[in-house]
Amino acid sequence: KNIAVLFGGCSTEYDVSLQSAASVIDHLDRSKYHFILLGITREGTWLRYNGSTADIRSDTWHTYDNCIPAFISPCKNARGIVELSGTEYRTTPVDVAFPVLHGKNGEDGTVQGLLELSGIPFVGCDTLSSAICMDKATAGQLVRAAGVETAASVTAFAGDDLDPAIREAEKLGFPLYVKPSRSGSSFGITKAYDKQALRNGIQAAFSHDRKVVIEQNVTGFEVGCAVLGYSEPVIAAIDEIELTGEFFDYEEKYSLRTSNIHLPARIEPGTADRIKAAARLIYKTLGCRGLARVDMFLTEEGRIVFNEVNTMPGFTAASRYPNMMRYSGISYPQLMDRLISLAAA
Ligand code: DAL
Ligand code: MG
Repeated sequence: KNIAVLFGGCSTEYDVSLQSAASVIDHLDRSKYHFILLGITREGTWLRYNGSTADIRSDTWHTYDNCIPAFISPCKNARGIVELSGTEYRTTPVDVAFPVLHGKNGEDGTVQGLLELSGIPFVGCDTLSSAICMDKATAGQLVRAAGVETAASVTAFAGDDLDPAIREAEKLGFPLYVKPSRSGSSFGITKAYDKQALRNGIQAAFSHDRKVVIEQNVTGFEVGCAVLGYSEPVIAAIDEIELTGEFFDYEEKYSLRTSNIHLPARIEPGTADRIKAAARLIYKTLGCRGLARVDMFLTEEGRIVFNEVNTMPGFTAASRYPNMMRYSGISYPQLMDRLISLAAA
């Protein structure tokens, strides 16, 4: 089977994708799969890459002469990966694509749309589901309509008069979380304690997205639930993020300096069952297929509040999603096999 692994991407989460993809490639069974690596630079150049995962991890992969300009073609007379050398081109068919891309231009339905047009089965959620899950405002509306609690929020749009949104947001009470509607790994997020910080936070978030969500603070802690499958998905163990610092920002997510991840979460079995049921409902409501990590809050009073869904969660050997699966009896290589067979199904 020809498996095309896509990595990098024009996204603030480029570096995270390199680590995730290197780990995915290292755990794919070379006796079962033949892989074609397709790297996308930060600037958006697509290159077929033939080197090691070490050079993906260190972000030196694109400096090699053996990188060949290549892209996925949706064109019927050149289906698959097209490599360009001079005026010649060569097409390689692809059985399954694995877009190990996080955030914008990769996890948001854009690449999924290209793969759908190209007729290539791929790992993960389809175009619509990826786009919805990427957009916190839209995902929140759908999840709320399905009966799961979400944080009270206000949405602001670039170019609009911000004062009405700021007045509405102030009524929710400080501190407030200001988030680009479509972003990942906490890029562009501010925890605002006063009106000035709120205004500055909105401006900062606008550099990531023209739509910004301002959310009420939820007192409690964050729990995550790894989901795998389609009609009867596996709902794996729940983990818990114990924060001692202010919030789980980019630096903290990847250094875990002042936080701990508990797997399994330190919760009652009855609460775990409620969280799993909510994760399943959210996964189904948002049309997820293949995989997703559903992030929620558990409040001090035991309420479950939706946070967000990651349709291509972090995939490093230390990442939460593969760890939760492993805890539930699905090893990393088994997880790869399951994801690839789900894509082709
Ligand atoms: N957005 C990052 C990769 C995550 O959710 O794990
Ligand atoms: Mg995310």
